[in-house]
Amino acid sequence: MSQRSCLSIVLAAGEGTRMKSSLPKVLHQIAGLPMVAHVVKAAELAGSGDQALVIGHGAEEMRKAATKFAPDAETFVQDKRLGTAHAVLAAREAIARGYDDVLVMFGDTPLIDPGALTVARLKLAEGASVAVIGFRTPNPTGYGRLIEKGGRLVAIREEKDCSEEEKNITFCNGGLMAIDGSKALGLLDAVGNANAKGEYYLTDIVEIATGEGLEVVATEASFENALGINNRAELAQAEGIWQARRRHEVMLSGVTLISPETVFFSHDTEIGADTLVEPNVWFGPGVKIATGAKIHAFSHIEGATIASNCDVGPFARLRPGADLKQKAKVGNFCEVKQAVVEEGAKVNHLTYIGDARVGAGANIGAGTITCNYDGYSKFFTDIGEGAFVGSNSSLVAPITIGKGGYIASGSVITEDVPEDALAFGRARQKTIPGKGKELRERFASAAAKKKAAATDH
Ligand code: UD1
Ligand code: CA
Repeated sequence: MSQRSCLSIVLAAGEGTRMKSSLPKVLHQIAGLPMVAHVVKAAELAGSGDQALVIGHGAEEMRKAATKFAPDAETFVQDKRLGTAHAVLAAREAIARGYDDVLVMFGDTPLIDPGALTVARLKLAEGASVAVIGFRTPNPTGYGRLIEKGGRLVAIREEKDCSEEEKNITFCNGGLMAIDGSKALGLLDAVGNANAKGEYYLTDIVEIATGEGLEVVATEASFENALGINNRAELAQAEGIWQARRRHEVMLSGVTLISPETVFFSHDTEIGADTLVEPNVWFGPGVKIATGAKIHAFSHIEGATIASNCDVGPFARLRPGADLKQKAKVGNFCEVKQAVVEEGAKVNHLTYIGDARVGAGANIGAGTITCNYDGYSKFFTDIGEGAFVGSNSSLVAPITIGKGGYIASGSVITEDVPEDALAFGRARQKTIPGKGKELRERFASAAAKKKAAATDH
């Protein structure tokens, strides 16, 4: 089958009014990726070499977004929304180039399994002209029904055009179709709009093909494949299904999730075996974790690279560009952004490390802040190997702490510290014997006088 050429056409011209959003519906995200991008990805995984996107509503925004998630896809604009067959024909030019297989998918069904698409393509390879991916549901309202005669699919009837008897059919159209590329245009051009909605229905090609004596088959896939997102409740439902699938895969690949339902992955999270993820952890896009790391509870991680055996959290925030080398440790209430924490370095408590390098084995004390921003520009802090930064220090960037440098607690460091030097950046302590007691007595007597004066009145 891999030799068969394939074009996938993703329909995404609809407005999606029920999302109540200024963003086109199919750009709403599942696991940090627009739902239409999930569809394109599934098509690619099913071996589709070329992608066509049919857009309409929010065309400019769609085009712009597509340059990111499907840079090679061609876009076609459907000016008037006259139905799904009409939408497919917006990509006439692409179909006319001639493909063995044409896959038609909807941009709002993000949970499509590439396996189901592959099965449909196999049916074409075996000689079918049209393969429809169906699903069974006890609740078929709103879906097109698959009408079978003698065990063969002969038509798809939209809900509004169904007889009462046909409405009882529970085998439904998932909205995914594989069409023999040499027959696609002929079939689509034969579609009319004499139906309840007055639309050109893609589904009508089934009856047309049957009438021409062509072989049409229905394959069955699970319900999720057909889950169309129309509102934000369904968006959350799809997110839930996606996350559940991903957690399962991740656990089977050797990662321990103590409370899987509380861990949220991004579409691109990479996480190595023997990593432990405690409850309530969020992964944004762009996270790569090697093996044997420990991600403690309530950590928020995005755009970060975490090498093997690192220890992160609890309550750590790793932002884009955080790069933790082997055995590095970033503890509770620490934020790391655009910074390398080298091998075995420790940033354990209540610290902000931004635009910086923390050298191997360095120890950053509680409450240390890299002051990287003056309100206009960002500056770099370089902390050398084995340096020790005492608690509650402010490192005012640009600044370099040499290898083995030692910073006294509570320092505000504004000048570079050479290798192995000790730097104090604070006022010297003054201690006055007995003065504490004297002060306490003075304050107590003043307070007593005030109280007595108040009760006299
Ligand atoms: C469609 C199917 C139905 C199936 C259901 C599964 C048809 C006629 N019906 O119905 O059999 O059970 O999906 O979810 O195909 N679109 C355009 N341009 C148009 C019309 C639609 O781009 O002119 C796009 C929409 O943006 C959407 C997709 O095509 O992504 C499906 O259209 P929609 O109107 O939602 O079809 P359904 O009524 O759900
Ligand atoms: Ca729909």
